[in-house]
Amino acid sequence: MTKKVSILDIQKRKDEGVPITMVTAYDYTAASLIDQTDVDMILVGDSLGMVMLGYESTVSVTMDEMIHHAKAVARGAKRPFLVGDLPFMSYVDASEALRNAGRHLKEGGMHAVKLEGGREVAITVEVLVQAGIPVMGHIGLTPQRISKLGGFKVQGQTAVDAERLLQDALALQEAGCFSIVLEAVPAKIAEKISTALSIPTIGIGAGAGCDGQVLVYQDMLGMSEKYLPRFVKRYAEVGDITINAMQQYVEDVQNRSFPGEEHVYKIKREELDAFLERFGIFVEG
Ligand code: KIV
Repeated sequence: MTKKVSILDIQKRKDEGVPITMVTAYDYTAASLIDQTDVDMILVGDSLGMVMLGYESTVSVTMDEMIHHAKAVARGAKRPFLVGDLPFMSYVDASEALRNAGRHLKEGGMHAVKLEGGREVAITVEVLVQAGIPVMGHIGLTPQRISKLGGFKVQGQTAVDAERLLQDALALQEAGCFSIVLEAVPAKIAEKISTALSIPTIGIGAGAGCDGQVLVYQDMLGMSEKYLPRFVKRYAEVGDITINAMQQYVEDVQNRSFPGEEHVYKIKREELDAFLERFGIFVEG
């Protein structure tokens, strides 16, 4: 096992120009698998609302649901740096944010929290950081505000919007964020923001000029049936593998080729005979 990743390692990667890797995970099994790789950070994202719970969006996700999944991930992943999302409406003011971010660290076993928004959440970030809670920002396409944004749209496509994103990023850095997710932002803008910041940016749909990348576990492993945005690269077809395996299982059970000899427990001949004799059952062989 390689060394446990700390918040200092994340900054060091930026300082040394080594790209940072982050993936989402929501359960013990996925976390244990990721733990065996060199992935730097796991995000217990509120995207769990869609990929684990079947909600329409992240808006319905509750703090209790986040903690439930965070705990499972923390039990499975001992090496990566763990970040827990603060769900919609869980950081409406600084005291709510403190209470919920505190839960992520104390109950969920996370090392940091992530929240969405720019300058409007800077005060909240400051309060959390002062209380000793590392915060990752998230700007660009912010799914919790999807109704306000009018849909899953690329952000920062005009000079004015791009400037707004840059100012948001600088404000979050100033407030004490240790890193910022840039979601669905033109690559050239994300690159400029990354250069302007001394803290690392983690891109999703923001190009290779970011200091790191994040992908949703189910998306990158080909487990999502729904439409995938163009920024997702599928590294495996686990969905197809799963469907084929399930279908094979059904066939094996139906044609009685499973369970086979190698899957059953044995009993000694004399014990079996004694049993059959006791119950007066006559069996040949
Ligand atoms: O919830 C999530 O999965 C996220 C990532 C897409 C960055 O916020």
